[in-house]
Amino acid sequence: MKTLLNYLEESGVGEELTHVVISLADCVKKIADSMDKSHDGKAGSQNVFGEEQLALDLIANEIIVYEMEQNKHVGIVASEEMEEEKSVGEGEYGVCFDPLDGSSLVDVNLSVGSIFGIYKTKTFFGVRGDNQLASMIAVYGPKTTILLTVRHGVCEFLLRSDGEFVLTRENLQVGPGKMFAPGNLRACSKRKDYLKLLDFWAENNYTLRYSGAMTPDVAQIMLKGKGIFTYPGYDEQPDGKLRLLYECAPMALLMEECSGMATDGNLRILQKDVESLSQRTPILIGSSEEVQRAMDMLQNG
Ligand code: F6P
Repeated sequence: MKTLLNYLEESGVGEELTHVVISLADCVKKIADSMDKSHDGKAGSQNVFGEEQLALDLIANEIIVYEMEQNKHVGIVASEEMEEEKSVGEGEYGVCFDPLDGSSLVDVNLSVGSIFGIYKTKTFFGVRGDNQLASMIAVYGPKTTILLTVRHGVCEFLLRSDGEFVLTRENLQVGPGKMFAPGNLRACSKRKDYLKLLDFWAENNYTLRYSGAMTPDVAQIMLKGKGIFTYPGYDEQPDGKLRLLYECAPMALLMEECSGMATDGNLRILQKDVESLSQRTPILIGSSEEVQRAMDMLQNG
Protein backbone atom coordinates (compact mmCIF):
# COMPACT_ATOMS: atom_id res chain seq x y z
CA MET A 1 0.00 0.00 0.00
CA LYS A 2 1.20 3.50 -0.79
CA THR A 3 1.96 5.58 2.30
CA LEU A 4 1.54 9.33 2.57
CA LEU A 5 5.33 9.68 2.40
CA ASN A 6 5.55 7.51 -0.76
CA TYR A 7 2.81 9.60 -2.33
CA LEU A 8 4.52 12.91 -1.53
CA GLU A 9 7.89 11.67 -2.78
CA GLU A 10 6.36 10.50 -6.04
CA SER A 11 4.37 13.71 -6.49
CA GLY A 12 7.58 15.70 -6.91
CA VAL A 13 6.59 18.52 -4.53
CA GLY A 14 10.04 18.54 -2.99
CA GLU A 15 11.55 17.66 0.33
CA GLU A 16 10.46 20.82 2.18
CA LEU A 17 6.74 20.70 1.47
CA THR A 18 6.84 16.94 2.05
CA HIS A 19 8.32 17.54 5.49
CA VAL A 20 5.65 20.15 6.35
CA VAL A 21 2.79 17.86 5.29
CA ILE A 22 4.26 14.90 7.20
CA SER A 23 4.56 17.05 10.35
CA LEU A 24 0.89 18.03 10.01
CA ALA A 25 -0.09 14.38 9.54
CA ASP A 26 1.81 13.64 12.78
CA CYS A 27 -0.30 16.32 14.48
CA VAL A 28 -3.45 14.63 13.19
CA LYS A 29 -2.31 11.35 14.75
CA LYS A 30 -1.72 13.06 18.09
CA ILE A 31 -5.04 14.90 17.98
CA ALA A 32 -6.86 11.66 17.12
CA ASP A 33 -5.09 10.05 20.02
CA SER A 34 -6.07 12.77 22.49
CA MET A 35 -9.68 12.37 21.38
CA ASP A 36 -9.56 8.66 22.00
CA LYS A 37 -9.57 9.20 25.76
CA SER A 38 -12.59 9.87 27.95
CA HIS A 39 -12.58 13.53 26.98
CA ASP A 40 -15.86 15.39 26.55
CA GLY A 41 -14.12 18.17 24.64
CA LYS A 42 -14.71 20.87 27.24
CA ALA A 43 -12.36 22.80 29.49
CA GLY A 44 -12.69 22.31 33.22
CA SER A 45 -14.03 18.76 32.96
CA GLN A 46 -12.23 15.80 34.49
CA ASN A 47 -11.05 12.57 32.90
CA VAL A 48 -11.62 9.11 34.38
CA PHE A 49 -8.57 9.62 36.60
CA GLY A 50 -10.06 12.78 38.08
CA GLU A 51 -7.53 15.03 36.31
CA GLU A 52 -8.54 18.49 35.12
CA GLN A 53 -8.70 18.72 31.34
CA LEU A 54 -7.98 21.46 28.87
CA ALA A 55 -10.56 21.95 26.13
CA LEU A 56 -9.74 19.65 23.22
CA ASP A 57 -9.50 22.53 20.77
CA LEU A 58 -6.76 24.08 22.92
CA ILE A 59 -4.94 20.75 23.19
CA ALA A 60 -5.13 20.38 19.40
CA ASN A 61 -3.81 23.92 19.00
CA GLU A 62 -0.86 23.24 21.32
CA ILE A 63 -0.02 20.03 19.47
CA ILE A 64 0.14 21.81 16.11
CA VAL A 65 2.03 24.90 17.31
CA TYR A 66 4.63 22.72 19.06
CA GLU A 67 5.06 20.49 16.01
CA MET A 68 5.44 23.52 13.69
CA GLU A 69 8.06 25.00 16.04
CA GLN A 70 10.08 21.80 15.57
CA ASN A 71 9.84 21.96 11.77
CA LYS A 72 12.73 23.99 10.32
CA HIS A 73 10.82 24.80 7.15
CA VAL A 74 8.00 26.63 8.93
CA GLY A 75 8.40 30.29 9.90
CA ILE A 76 4.91 31.46 10.79
CA VAL A 77 1.62 29.98 11.98
CA ALA A 78 -1.88 31.35 12.44
CA SER A 79 -4.67 29.54 14.22
CA GLU A 80 -8.35 30.10 14.76
CA GLU A 81 -7.53 29.61 18.45
CA MET A 82 -4.99 32.48 18.56
CA GLU A 83 -5.59 36.19 18.15
CA GLU A 84 -2.35 36.90 16.32
CA GLU A 85 -0.07 35.08 13.96
CA LYS A 86 3.02 33.62 15.63
CA SER A 87 6.58 33.38 14.44
CA VAL A 88 7.94 29.87 14.99
CA GLY A 89 11.32 30.01 13.24
CA GLU A 90 13.17 30.98 10.10
CA GLY A 91 11.46 28.68 7.62
CA GLU A 92 9.82 29.92 4.42
CA TYR A 93 6.49 28.17 4.94
CA GLY A 94 3.42 29.54 6.67
CA VAL A 95 0.77 27.18 8.05
CA CYS A 96 -2.70 28.34 9.07
CA PHE A 97 -5.20 26.07 10.72
CA ASP A 98 -8.42 25.46 12.54
CA PRO A 99 -7.15 22.86 15.02
CA LEU A 100 -10.55 21.36 15.86
CA ASP A 101 -13.45 22.34 13.66
CA GLY A 102 -16.83 21.46 15.19
CA SER A 103 -15.38 21.07 18.69
CA SER A 104 -18.81 21.61 20.26
CA LEU A 105 -19.81 18.25 18.76
CA VAL A 106 -17.20 16.23 20.65
CA ASP A 107 -19.43 15.73 23.72
CA VAL A 108 -22.21 14.27 21.57
CA ASN A 109 -19.74 12.07 19.68
CA LEU A 110 -20.30 13.44 16.17
CA SER A 111 -17.41 13.71 13.72
CA VAL A 112 -15.09 16.72 13.90
CA GLY A 113 -12.06 17.82 11.90
CA SER A 114 -8.87 19.82 11.50
CA ILE A 115 -8.21 22.18 8.58
CA PHE A 116 -4.78 23.29 7.27
CA GLY A 117 -3.62 25.75 4.59
CA ILE A 118 0.06 25.82 3.58
CA TYR A 119 1.65 28.89 1.99
CA LYS A 120 5.14 30.20 1.32
CA THR A 121 4.86 33.45 3.26
CA LYS A 122 6.14 35.42 6.21
CA THR A 123 2.69 36.78 7.06
CA PHE A 124 -0.90 35.84 6.32
CA PHE A 125 -2.03 39.44 5.88
CA GLY A 126 -2.58 39.99 2.17
CA VAL A 127 -2.43 36.34 1.08
CA ARG A 128 -5.26 34.80 -0.89
CA GLY A 129 -6.32 31.16 -1.07
CA ASP A 130 -4.91 30.87 -4.58
CA ASN A 131 -1.43 31.26 -3.04
CA GLN A 132 -1.73 27.99 -1.12
CA LEU A 133 0.81 25.33 -2.07
CA ALA A 134 -1.28 22.66 -0.42
CA SER A 135 -4.27 22.22 1.82
CA MET A 136 -5.47 19.37 3.95
CA ILE A 137 -8.37 18.41 6.16
CA ALA A 138 -8.54 15.63 8.72
CA VAL A 139 -11.79 13.97 9.75
CA TYR A 140 -12.01 12.29 13.16
CA GLY A 141 -14.95 9.90 12.94
CA PRO A 142 -15.29 6.14 13.06
CA LYS A 143 -11.90 6.30 11.31
CA THR A 144 -9.31 9.07 11.04
CA THR A 145 -8.75 10.19 7.46
CA ILE A 146 -6.97 12.98 5.63
CA LEU A 147 -7.96 14.63 2.36
CA LEU A 148 -4.92 16.29 0.84
CA THR A 149 -4.11 18.35 -2.20
CA VAL A 150 -0.62 19.39 -3.24
CA ARG A 151 -2.29 20.88 -6.31
CA HIS A 152 -2.23 17.60 -8.23
CA GLY A 153 -5.83 16.54 -7.43
CA VAL A 154 -7.17 15.31 -4.11
CA CYS A 155 -6.31 12.05 -2.34
CA GLU A 156 -7.70 10.37 0.74
CA PHE A 157 -5.41 8.71 3.29
CA LEU A 158 -6.54 6.46 6.12
CA LEU A 159 -4.77 6.33 9.48
CA ARG A 160 -4.10 2.63 10.09
CA SER A 161 -3.78 1.13 13.56
CA ASP A 162 0.02 0.89 13.08
CA GLY A 163 0.15 4.70 12.85
CA GLU A 164 0.75 4.85 9.08
CA PHE A 165 -1.35 6.98 6.73
CA VAL A 166 -2.07 4.94 3.59
CA LEU A 167 -3.59 6.04 0.30
CA THR A 168 -7.19 4.86 0.01
CA ARG A 169 -8.59 6.99 -2.84
CA GLU A 170 -7.09 9.27 -5.44
CA ASN A 171 -8.22 11.82 -7.99
CA LEU A 172 -11.51 12.56 -6.18
CA GLN A 173 -14.03 14.27 -8.47
CA VAL A 174 -17.24 16.13 -7.64
CA GLY A 175 -19.99 16.21 -10.27
CA PRO A 176 -23.79 16.34 -10.57
CA GLY A 177 -25.89 14.72 -7.84
CA LYS A 178 -28.67 15.59 -5.42
CA MET A 179 -27.24 16.09 -1.95
CA PHE A 180 -27.33 19.27 0.18
CA ALA A 181 -25.86 20.47 3.47
CA PRO A 182 -27.57 23.79 4.32
CA GLY A 183 -25.78 25.78 7.03
CA ASN A 184 -27.20 28.86 8.73
CA LEU A 185 -30.89 28.14 8.14
CA ARG A 186 -31.55 31.09 10.46
CA ALA A 187 -30.88 33.22 7.39
CA CYS A 188 -34.15 31.91 5.90
CA SER A 189 -36.18 34.10 8.24
CA LYS A 190 -34.63 37.16 6.56
CA ARG A 191 -33.75 35.86 3.10
CA LYS A 192 -36.60 34.58 1.01
CA ASP A 193 -34.11 33.63 -1.70
CA TYR A 194 -32.43 31.13 0.64
CA LEU A 195 -35.82 29.74 1.61
CA LYS A 196 -36.60 29.33 -2.10
CA LEU A 197 -33.36 27.46 -2.65
CA LEU A 198 -34.25 25.13 0.23
CA ASP A 199 -37.67 24.59 -1.37
CA PHE A 200 -35.96 23.76 -4.64
CA TRP A 201 -33.83 21.08 -2.97
CA ALA A 202 -36.80 19.64 -1.07
CA GLU A 203 -39.13 19.61 -4.08
CA ASN A 204 -36.51 17.99 -6.28
CA ASN A 205 -35.83 15.06 -3.96
CA TYR A 206 -32.37 16.04 -2.81
CA THR A 207 -30.89 14.09 0.10
CA LEU A 208 -30.16 16.15 3.24
CA ARG A 209 -26.74 15.40 4.75
CA TYR A 210 -25.74 17.96 7.39
CA SER A 211 -23.77 17.22 10.55
CA GLY A 212 -23.03 20.67 12.02
CA ALA A 213 -19.27 20.49 11.37
CA MET A 214 -18.05 21.88 8.09
CA THR A 215 -15.09 19.52 7.74
CA PRO A 216 -17.01 16.22 7.66
CA ASP A 217 -19.83 17.90 5.71
CA VAL A 218 -17.51 19.09 2.94
CA ALA A 219 -15.37 15.92 3.06
CA GLN A 220 -18.56 13.96 2.45
CA ILE A 221 -19.25 15.92 -0.75
CA MET A 222 -15.75 15.17 -2.05
CA LEU A 223 -15.99 11.49 -1.13
CA LYS A 224 -19.53 10.91 -2.43
CA GLY A 225 -18.62 12.98 -5.49
CA LYS A 226 -21.72 15.19 -5.39
CA GLY A 227 -23.60 17.85 -3.48
CA ILE A 228 -23.33 21.33 -2.01
CA PHE A 229 -22.62 22.94 1.38
CA THR A 230 -23.91 26.46 2.00
CA TYR A 231 -23.31 28.96 4.77
CA PRO A 232 -24.69 32.32 3.58
CA GLY A 233 -24.92 35.51 5.55
CA TYR A 234 -27.88 37.77 6.25
CA ASP A 235 -28.33 41.35 7.41
CA GLU A 236 -27.28 40.83 11.05
CA GLN A 237 -24.37 38.66 9.99
CA PRO A 238 -23.61 39.66 6.38
CA ASP A 239 -20.47 37.54 6.05
CA GLY A 240 -21.87 34.51 7.82
CA LYS A 241 -19.70 32.78 10.37
CA LEU A 242 -16.98 30.79 8.66
CA ARG A 243 -13.42 32.12 8.50
CA LEU A 244 -11.76 32.80 5.17
CA LEU A 245 -8.18 31.94 6.18
CA TYR A 246 -8.71 29.01 8.51
CA GLU A 247 -11.72 27.27 7.02
CA CYS A 248 -12.97 28.45 3.66
CA ALA A 249 -9.74 28.94 1.67
CA PRO A 250 -8.27 25.47 2.43
CA MET A 251 -11.65 23.83 1.70
CA ALA A 252 -11.99 25.85 -1.52
CA LEU A 253 -8.61 24.66 -2.82
CA LEU A 254 -9.58 21.04 -2.15
CA MET A 255 -12.98 21.49 -3.83
CA GLU A 256 -11.54 23.16 -6.93
CA GLU A 257 -8.96 20.37 -7.17
CA CYS A 258 -11.96 17.97 -7.28
CA SER A 259 -13.38 20.00 -10.23
CA GLY A 260 -15.90 21.68 -7.92
CA MET A 261 -16.45 25.34 -7.06
CA ALA A 262 -16.33 27.56 -3.97
CA THR A 263 -17.64 31.12 -4.01
CA ASP A 264 -18.95 33.80 -1.69
CA GLY A 265 -21.75 34.39 -4.22
CA ASN A 266 -19.72 36.83 -6.31
CA LEU A 267 -16.05 35.99 -6.07
CA ARG A 268 -14.15 32.71 -6.00
CA ILE A 269 -13.16 32.11 -2.39
CA LEU A 270 -9.58 31.59 -3.56
CA GLN A 271 -9.47 35.12 -5.01
CA LYS A 272 -10.40 36.85 -1.78
CA ASP A 273 -7.58 38.75 -0.07
CA VAL A 274 -7.07 38.07 3.61
CA GLU A 275 -7.38 41.50 5.21
CA SER A 276 -7.78 40.30 8.78
CA LEU A 277 -7.00 36.94 10.32
CA SER A 278 -10.52 36.48 11.64
CA GLN A 279 -12.23 37.64 8.43
CA ARG A 280 -15.45 35.79 7.71
CA THR A 281 -17.01 34.98 4.38
CA PRO A 282 -20.27 33.53 3.12
CA ILE A 283 -19.63 30.32 1.21
CA LEU A 284 -21.31 28.11 -1.39
CA ILE A 285 -19.10 25.07 -2.03
CA GLY A 286 -19.58 21.82 -3.90
CA SER A 287 -20.22 20.60 -7.43
CA SER A 288 -20.04 23.29 -10.10
CA GLU A 289 -23.63 22.58 -11.19
CA GLU A 290 -25.06 22.99 -7.69
CA VAL A 291 -22.93 26.01 -6.77
CA GLN A 292 -23.83 27.76 -10.01
CA ARG A 293 -27.54 27.15 -9.39
CA ALA A 294 -27.28 28.39 -5.80
CA MET A 295 -25.47 31.54 -7.00
CA ASP A 296 -28.17 32.22 -9.58
CA MET A 297 -31.03 31.62 -7.18
CA LEU A 298 -29.52 33.58 -4.31
CA GLN A 299 -28.77 36.55 -6.55
CA ASN A 300 -32.13 36.57 -8.29
CA GLY A 301 -34.25 35.43 -5.38
O1 F6P B 1 -17.04 27.18 12.38
C1 F6P B 1 -17.40 26.15 13.13
C2 F6P B 1 -18.64 25.39 12.71
O2 F6P B 1 -18.81 24.43 13.71
C3 F6P B 1 -18.60 24.72 11.34
O3 F6P B 1 -17.86 23.55 11.35
C4 F6P B 1 -20.05 24.49 11.05
O4 F6P B 1 -20.35 24.31 9.70
C5 F6P B 1 -20.68 25.72 11.62
O5 F6P B 1 -19.81 26.20 12.64
C6 F6P B 1 -22.04 25.47 12.20
O6 F6P B 1 -22.57 26.66 12.53
P1 F6P B 1 -23.95 26.88 13.29
O7 F6P B 1 -23.57 26.95 14.72
O8 F6P B 1 -24.46 28.14 12.74
O9 F6P B 1 -24.83 25.71 12.99
